[in-house]
Amino acid sequence: MIISGLFIVLISFAGTGYSIHCQQCSSTTEKNCKGNETKCSSMFDLCISKYISTKDIKGQVIETYFSRGCGKLHDCLDPVIFTNDNITVEMSVECCWHSICVLKDFPSKNKHKGKEVKCKNCYSDNESTCNKNNNTMVCPGEEPKCASINYQSKGKVNKNFFTQGCATKSCKNNTVDWKMEGTSYTLQLFCKATISLGFSPVILLLVAFSVIKLL
Ligand SMILES: *[C@@H]1O[C@H](CO)[C@@H](O)[C@H](O)[C@H]1NC(C)=O
Ligand SMILES: *[C@@H]1O[C@H](CO)[C@@H](O)[C@H](O)[C@H]1NC(C)=O
Ligand SMILES: *[C@@H]1O[C@H](CO)[C@@H](O)[C@H](O)[C@H]1NC(C)=O
Ligand SMILES: *[C@@H]1O[C@H](CO)[C@@H](O)[C@H](O)[C@H]1NC(C)=O
Ligand SMILES: *[C@@H]1O[C@H](CO)[C@@H](O)[C@H](O)[C@H]1NC(C)=O
Repeated sequence: MIISGLFIVLISFAGTGYSIHCQQCSSTTEKNCKGNETKCSSMFDLCISKYISTKDIKGQVIETYFSRGCGKLHDCLDPVIFTNDNITVEMSVECCWHSICVLKDFPSKNKHKGKEVKCKNCYSDNESTCNKNNNTMVCPGEEPKCASINYQSKGKVNKNFFTQGCATKSCKNNTVDWKMEGTSYTLQLFCKATISLGFSPVILLLVAFSVIKLL
């Protein structure tokens, strides 16, 4: 009796589906925003805060985007900084189970002096490779991974570029997309694999949580 009762509770829990509530808002000027909390559809696992900023070599902001909303486990990305002789890109997708996820700090300069790594350093407009130049750069110690970015925007602004350079060790293959002011953006980040046995506790928890949801 108790067992079948528990069974029914489990079935009804699975049937109802757990749904999360997240604040929804976006900003193109600052790394923060406030909005109303809304219920996420069952395809979402968690709440996210997303931040992307691109700057030219002089430090002039090309674009900044911040948003809060519903997300999925595979969206999560620890703060990554990508740089080369052309561009600096900061990106972060913070995940949490409460309505407002707080962004982690970006890795600060000169903090992790490690061995120096040499990476390709290029920028090509309207292309998805950099075959025309074989420039390289030596990455600073705090940016020990070679990385590439494939960037596309469609809508009011149509821009497409491929660039290679150095990224912080938090770099992982990921796709970040966002919409602002009538334009849809997609940024694909590719990182050269380095051996790492470290698992973030939050990721382990997220995986465990996803397994529980599947049961
Ligand atoms: C939040 O919801 C309230 C009530 O539904 C509404 O008046 C307000 O405009 C909403 N705020 C935002 C930022 O959407
Ligand atoms: C990248 O560098 C190339 C060649 O130096 C230049 O033509 C291009 O405008 C630069 N792009 C950006 C976004 O700075
Ligand atoms: C890239 O494409 C855009 C839009 O199609 C165009 O305006 C721009 O001149 C192109 N740039 C290069 C370097 O071909
Ligand atoms: C870049 O390197 C590749 C392979 O080493 C070579 O085939 C190509 O000609 C080089 N390109 C330039 C522009 O030097
Ligand atoms: C990341 O993407 C690159 C390029 O597609 C690929 O070579 C590499 O194996 C990927 N790394 C991981 C960990 O999936």
